[in-house]
Amino acid sequence: MKTNKKKQWRLLSEHFLQLKNIHLRKLFLENPGRAEQMTLHGAGLFLDYSKNRIVDKTVSLLLDLAREADLEAEIEHMFSGKRINQTEDRSVLHVVLRNPTGTSHFVDGVDLMLEVNAVLHKMEHMARKISSGQWLGYTGKPIKNIVNIGIGGSDLGPAMVYEALKAYSNRGLNFRFISNIDATHLTEQLMNLEADETLFLIASKTFTTQETMTNAASAREWLLKRLKNESAIEHHFIAISTNEEKVTEFGIAPENRLTLWDWVGGRYSLTSAIGFSLMIALGVENFHLLRKGFHSMDQHFQKVPLSENMPVILGLLGVWYNNFFNAQTYAVLPYDQYLSRFPAYLQQSDMESNGKCIDRDGYPVAYQTGPIVWGEPGTNGQHAFYQLIHQGTKLVPCDFIGFAKSINPTGDHHDILMANFVAQQEALAFGKEPQDLKTENIPAGLIPFRTFEGNCPSNCIMAEKLTPESLGSLISLYEHKIFVQGIIWNIFSFDQWGVELGKQLVKRILPELKGTLPISATHDASTRNLLNYLLKHR
Ligand code: F6P
Repeated sequence: MKTNKKKQWRLLSEHFLQLKNIHLRKLFLENPGRAEQMTLHGAGLFLDYSKNRIVDKTVSLLLDLAREADLEAEIEHMFSGKRINQTEDRSVLHVVLRNPTGTSHFVDGVDLMLEVNAVLHKMEHMARKISSGQWLGYTGKPIKNIVNIGIGGSDLGPAMVYEALKAYSNRGLNFRFISNIDATHLTEQLMNLEADETLFLIASKTFTTQETMTNAASAREWLLKRLKNESAIEHHFIAISTNEEKVTEFGIAPENRLTLWDWVGGRYSLTSAIGFSLMIALGVENFHLLRKGFHSMDQHFQKVPLSENMPVILGLLGVWYNNFFNAQTYAVLPYDQYLSRFPAYLQQSDMESNGKCIDRDGYPVAYQTGPIVWGEPGTNGQHAFYQLIHQGTKLVPCDFIGFAKSINPTGDHHDILMANFVAQQEALAFGKEPQDLKTENIPAGLIPFRTFEGNCPSNCIMAEKLTPESLGSLISLYEHKIFVQGIIWNIFSFDQWGVELGKQLVKRILPELKGTLPISATHDASTRNLLNYLLKHR
């Protein structure tokens, strides 16, 4: 049955009509215990969701919607390895990657942890060798530069976490991330690096992704041009992939290969060998603390009742705005410069997972699915796009993320940062009314312009400090929130067929652009026009 035809959906639509104009000012006035009642703790994180346009009944109706969608059973299906990624006929078991080492996780009688632990062990050995200076380059010098080449899930996660946890990283090594097929990325990232001190990590689950393989081939050429001997490859290239055959074809020996499995989705692969650059950068212990943080939130998600379950509550609130208020986007606003890449990372995990228009029965959905995710760290965003959130015509629900302690305590910077963090949430929720402006003697003609309607919803997610552990919990919180929404929307969150058409068309267009084939008359007039321009002006 279609999601929006279900009983709970109908009840929520009716409830929405009663609630849509109620102001947060009124809700807080009526219930002094609201903030306390709508605060959750789990896996080292704090979540205050009281500044949402909801009452107790909204939460209970949303929870019933989750029950109607059989969310609890679906969570168990994921954890137990059921092939819930049906269109690719795969299990979805990234949670196993974060299980504590030494435990077992049986799926179909096979202990997946044996394989996971074996790869972790190999990663640890290699990472220690690299960071201790024992991994030598072709000319006998220790490695100084680590260059991760990957794209999508094989880049965004490692690059985001590297930025986020830079304070915990080995500053004696340089880390670079190359993803874009635009040679500018490769050129700029390799600038001033000595080839004999540089180690390339070719991270690609499939080892067929055009961008990564082209960048990897150019990196190989760059290295050979400088070191002038094929045998240098084994000192300077490590492959991270499921595709043994392609890795061998590229010339990387089995001892320099780290494997992952088809039950790890690209955008959920951060704690697999795809995160190897992080193990080198942060050290083995910190990498395990990151995994530990993920695991705590995984446990919370699996075990805590729906009404106190942070990913469930966040997911359902997202559904409330997306499907009843018709909000098109949501903003993720970390008040921590180290999390500058977090919104970009979430764009892939959320939009590639839930940007779907066909339901799990193969029919077009009759309701909105995944939202547009965007954001920037505070306070920068305040001086850029917050105007629209405060006084524009669109409803933009926001997630504010902040930490009580600073990693770089300097004067009163952190107090100012966090005062802004709190002030923005207060301003968005409660606004400023004309009568307040009158008492401040604001000229009558300016009052409409200086009024803040407020009633903009936000969640506040905090932890004591940004650490490998708290970051792991935070990422896992969002991963599971995305899962919850996929279940409610009855879509498959773990495939990504929408990226395929572009890949196919590139194969057709490339020879035309290179001039080895004539421009096909079967292209539309605009495509031919673009190609003609490029050929003429190249
Ligand atoms: O863009 C599609 C995609 O398949 C992503 O899902 C994935 O993270 C990325 O490409 C990279 O894939 P691979 O790791 O196989 O190179």
